[in-house]
Amino acid sequence: MPTCRICQSQFEPFISFGKMPIANGFLAPEQFDREYFFELAVGFCPTCAMVQLVDQPNKEQMFHEHYAFYSSMSRHMAEHFKRVALNIMPRYFASNDPFVVEIGSNDGVLLEHCVQRGVRHVGVEPAANVAKVAQEKGVETIVEFFDEELAGRIRSEHGQADVVFSANTMLQFSYMRSVLSGIASLLKPSGVLIFEDPYLGDIIEKTSYDQMYDEHLFYFSVASVDAMVRRHGMAVIDVESLPVHGGSMRYVVAHEGALSVSSAVAAQRAKEEQLGLRDLTTYEHLRKRIEQSRNDLVTLLSRFHDEGKRVVGYGATSKSTTILNYCNIGPDLIEFISDITPIKQGKFSPGMHIPVRSYEEFIAHYPDYALLFAWNHAREIMAKENNFHRAGGRWIVHVPKVGVLAHDFVR
Ligand code: SAH
Ligand code: TMP
Ligand code: ZN
Repeated sequence: MPTCRICQSQFEPFISFGKMPIANGFLAPEQFDREYFFELAVGFCPTCAMVQLVDQPNKEQMFHEHYAFYSSMSRHMAEHFKRVALNIMPRYFASNDPFVVEIGSNDGVLLEHCVQRGVRHVGVEPAANVAKVAQEKGVETIVEFFDEELAGRIRSEHGQADVVFSANTMLQFSYMRSVLSGIASLLKPSGVLIFEDPYLGDIIEKTSYDQMYDEHLFYFSVASVDAMVRRHGMAVIDVESLPVHGGSMRYVVAHEGALSVSSAVAAQRAKEEQLGLRDLTTYEHLRKRIEQSRNDLVTLLSRFHDEGKRVVGYGATSKSTTILNYCNIGPDLIEFISDITPIKQGKFSPGMHIPVRSYEEFIAHYPDYALLFAWNHAREIMAKENNFHRAGGRWIVHVPKVGVLAHDFVR
């Protein structure tokens, strides 16, 4: 039986998706025969309530100088991070010379606002290609993996931090103990760790199993995060539900006893009890809904294929890698996937090898149906696709249920 990465108890996986490639591993044909696969399975630890992957590829296989995810590609997310930089983080600044550290700072989408305001900062980002974009914006970036040792170096060079921020990154640390020890020593006595990640409650409510892939090692809840940080003398002092990335949670963590705890924490924990996040049966039911979702999607796409309809994927997301490989959907059912990220264009999707093409190819010849893999950016995308709708194009969605959106869905 696998061992929980947080509390070392044993747990059983509740679902196995079979062999999966690296979710962001878009590749060229000459790389097809050396593509790396691992077994994707997810389980729930009944002792500490942490939902987690059984196996994860090495970090160097996921994050390197050809990393395909650029945070600034979504205008909506760029605005979200601007609000975090200007409105959320300053609440916790203890002096008028605050110091901020960001873990997983990517292309500088958040820290560029610290540059503009003259706030002392350090971003940590091991993927050299995205880090370079941040450095070009003047963002102080260390191109390394954050861990306890690097935290010590940052502390001796810059002093302790008012805020350590991290978005969509904490959930991937197999070396979590080192990361949290590092953060605990890096934070001032009144400092806070603020982090945001996709929320387990949303995954269960929406059956958004496409959140499950190599980079997402943990599926956090308030209960499991609180238990996790308490092992390092810290506690969750505030939480806030966020609409981003299909449903996320922001956790504010402080040294235990240093700051008062908001009533939002207990309120969210009560909701988690109601949702059954600690009950094994919840995960059994989730597995059944995932299997149903797969059957529904394959049936729908096979029907369109038989009817001679053109179906194109919209957004070559890391999430789509799980859908495509688990449902065994290849270029016979999806002609290509359109994506605005230059590094993905001209490559092929991990595992199923569907061509990834530019957005221009999507608009040059609209398909009958677009399968919205980037469903977490639905609002931003629908707002700019009026011409596709006018041309009679329809959206296929798979979250929260597989279906085709009504024509009058977007006005
Ligand atoms: N914060 C951004 C990027 C999230 S993607 C956003 O929310 O859009 C996760 C990022 O974490 C990637 O850029 C990856 O290279 C980086 N990363 C992975 N391991 C890391 C580590 N040990 N320390 C710092 N960053 C890390
Ligand atoms: P994400 O879901 O992990 O944020 O990835 C979104 C992907 O979708 C990313 O590769 C960029 C792409 N995308 C588009 O192609 N068009 C768009 O309008 C948006 C918002 C994203
Ligand atoms: Zn555990």
